[in-house]
Amino acid sequence: MKIAIGSDHGGFKLKEEIKSHLAELGYEYHDFGTFSPEAVDYPDFARKVAEAVAKGDYERGILICGTGIGIGIAANKVPGIRAALCHDTFSARASREHNDANILTMGERVIGPGLAKEIVKVWLESEFAGGRHARRVEKIRAIERDYSKT
Ligand code: RB5
Repeated sequence: MKIAIGSDHGGFKLKEEIKSHLAELGYEYHDFGTFSPEAVDYPDFARKVAEAVAKGDYERGILICGTGIGIGIAANKVPGIRAALCHDTFSARASREHNDANILTMGERVIGPGLAKEIVKVWLESEFAGGRHARRVEKIRAIERDYSKT
């Protein structure tokens, strides 16, 4: 599984730790930046990762900012993206099983690296359950389709 990862300055340090964790777990990833703790704008990095995932170049994405909120809001503007903010392993698993989330977002200022690493592992190992959840995800796609016409 190929993973796209990105952050703003507020998530830079945690992104570096998550990259080492991905390597330890044997996942292939590409880092879309930011590449230093210098202040940047989170929508720029949300867009890069979200477009790469939406195009199908990467199966999943991980985005980190200070809270995980702004970068997730921005990523969810790209059609086909279902970005989920998860700060616990229960939500991480559910976001995959129920929502088929294709991007995980987290906030470096909210949780520590130990929990963040566990969340990433659970999220990457969990699969979409389909069934009734597939109908609901299809309804999310229908909203996107309807609003793309306006
Ligand atoms: C940057 O200061 C901060 O606003 C950003 O990392 C994020 O938390 C936005 O939602």
